[in-house]
Amino acid sequence: MSKLLIGKLSDIDIRGSRTVRVKETEIALFRLEDGSVLAIENRCPHKGGLLSEGMVCGTVVHCPLHDWKVDLQSGLVKDPDDGCVMTFDTEIDPEDGAIYVTI
Ligand code: FES
Repeated sequence: MSKLLIGKLSDIDIRGSRTVRVKETEIALFRLEDGSVLAIENRCPHKGGLLSEGMVCGTVVHCPLHDWKVDLQSGLVKDPDDGCVMTFDTEIDPEDGAIYVTI
């Protein structure tokens, strides 16, 4: 596993998202209202919708294609649908707001 610097907190609006590609994997980063940043694979397990373009409610993102709901903390799809995406640990440097993702 490696910890990668992927940007600054100021690069992502509150309640906004951003994507970063690491090798084969596209990662969606979401900055939540509480200031935390959560990272998941940017591919809906249903039919590949871009989760980074979905609306976030609390810690759940709604897929923009067919509204499956994916928990940003666990990566699990909410009932009544079923599936999961990869999640990635994030860390924010309190000094300079640098965001690190562990992959
Ligand atoms: S592709 Fe995400 S809900 Fe269908």
